[in-house]
Formats: sequence, structure tokens, C-alpha cells
Amino acid sequence: MYDSLRGKVAIVTGSGRAKGLGEAMAKRLAAEGCAVIVHDLGKAVDRFAPAHGVGTLSEVEERVAEIRDAGGTAEAFTGDLRVEADVEALVAFAVEKFGKLDIFINNAGVGYLFGPLVDMTEAEWDTVLDVNLRGCFFGMKYAARQMIAQGHGGRIISIASLAGKTAVLYTSAYTASKHGLIGLTRTAALELGPHNITVNAICPNHVTTGLGAWQNDFSSGAKSQSLDDYMAKMTAGVPLGRVGLTEDTAKAAAFLCSDEGSYITGEAMNVSGGEEYH
Ligand SMILES: NC(=O)c1ccc[n+]([C@@H]2O[C@H](COP(=O)([O-])OP(=O)(O)OC[C@H]3O[C@@H](n4cnc5c(N)ncnc54)[C@H](O)[C@@H]3O)[C@@H](O)[C@H]2O)c1
Repeated sequence: MYDSLRGKVAIVTGSGRAKGLGEAMAKRLAAEGCAVIVHDLGKAVDRFAPAHGVGTLSEVEERVAEIRDAGGTAEAFTGDLRVEADVEALVAFAVEKFGKLDIFINNAGVGYLFGPLVDMTEAEWDTVLDVNLRGCFFGMKYAARQMIAQGHGGRIISIASLAGKTAVLYTSAYTASKHGLIGLTRTAALELGPHNITVNAICPNHVTTGLGAWQNDFSSGAKSQSLDDYMAKMTAGVPLGRVGLTEDTAKAAAFLCSDEGSYITGEAMNVSGGEEYH
């Protein structure tokens, strides 16, 4: 636990879904004594919404209730990361509810719409890039504006992926977006360092969230492997012998947000059990 996190105000985007990385980070920060805004899309807004679902308002409210039941402080907010005004309103909501913003975690992402590059439509490409890169840019922009105005620094973290560092078959838009997110992180670190705002990315390997389960089905099918064979091969490629857990990413995020992480910025930190090492 980190005493330095007590009393901080944090936003975690895309944290409404049970078993998601966002949920784990929101709950970890709340347990550390942060007041947390649980954010998600609220409802499916277009035909690209995945079969495994998006974070609804009722799910966001459930996560908030769970945090409060555990003794923490949280509020719910729904909005589309692709809409700049929604992201500006998200930051304003945190300030209205809790008086300031110390931590912003860009977690929401589209990790589906996979398939051969030659078959990918413009609309699919745009959907992935609009959430994973453009939406994260909006998040950084409004979080940084607020933190600069406050004058006491801050923490911005974006959840990239191993796909931000290496190529993954049939994920051209996703892999491009996560590589771009790391570039955005490094540039933001350069600009925001003088304001004592650290900006980092976390690169998890596979985690079986709702999205992760969909990815397993897709990738095992694409490789004509049974799900069990696919998972066994993937696990064999991880030096620490297991796939990631949501808690692994939450631990890294808490560390980077704490005073212990105060001299770390512009990093793209692997949380991958050794699967990725550059
Ligand atoms: N699960 C994995 O194996 C894995 C690995 C590496 C990185 N990631 C990344 O971690 C993040 C969280 O993924 P997850 O596995 O927990 O999946 P998830 O589906 O539980 O979380 C993604 C969230 O983003 C939200 N979202 C999607 N589009 C949105 C929009 N336009 N506006 C607001 N919210 C939107 C969804 O509603 C959902 O709640 C994603 O950025 C993903 O790319 C996941």
C-alpha cells in the first residue's frame, strides 16, 4: 500500500466492466484511499459494439456501489471517449465532485475488429484508432490542462499492450493504435515533465478479461487451434509461466501513481511475466 495515494483523485476510463483491467485499477486506487471516477461508454453507440458488450451505465453504477461497499469513494460517469466534449466533461465532473484531479488512466480501448488487413474497412480502422489513440489524446489533453492549472503535478497512465511493441497477426489497426499510444505517451512526458506530471504507458500481455476471452476465441480460430491448445502455447511463451491477471496491471498502475514512481516518466512498462522485454 502507498500512503502517498491517500486523498488523491483519479479517473479510470473504461472501468465499468466486471473482470476488466479498468475495474481492477479503479478498485486498487480506491483501496489506496483515492476518490475514483468510474467511467465507461454507458451504452452501445454504433454497429461496431462487440458481442461481449460495452460498459453500460448499470455496470458503472455496480462498480461504484462495490467500491463504496468496501469503504471507498467513487462516482459514476458515462461518455464516449471519441467525443472531445465528453472527455472535457469527464474531467470537469471529477473536479466538480472532488475538487481536483491527480491521476488520469486511459484504459478504455477497442481490442476487437481484428482480421486480415486486406479485408479491413475504413470504418473499422477508424473505430479502433478513434478510441485507442484519438480518445487517449483527448484524455491526456484535458487531464493535463487541469493538472497544469492546479500546479501540483500529476500522473497520466495509458494502457497500451504488448501489441504496442511487437506485431500481432490480424490486428493491424489495434497494433498501430497501441504503437501510436506509446509515441503519444513519450511526447506528452516531454511536454508535461516541467509541470511535474509523469506520463507512462503500461503494456500488459494477455489477460482473460471479457475482451481477452473474445481475443482467445478469435486467435485460436485464426490459427486453427483448439482454445486449450492456443492457451497452452501462449502460456508456454511466458517465462513466469502464466498469462496476466488484472491485478498485475493494477499493481503497476498503483506504483506509478504513488510517490515511489515519481522519477519515472515516458516509460512503456511491460507487465508481461517476461513475455515482452524491450
Ligand atoms: N485483456 C487483455 O489481454 C489486454 C492486454 C493488453 C492491453 N489491453 C488493453 O487494456 C484495456 C482494457 O481492456 P480489457 O481487456 O479490460 O477490456 P474491457 O472490454 O473490459 O475494457 C475496455 C473498456 O473500454 C470501453 N470503451 C470502448 N469504447 C469506448 C468509448 N468509445 N468510450 C468509452 N469507453 C469505451 C468498453 O466499454 C470497456 O469497458 C484496453 O485498452 C485494452 O486494449 C488488454
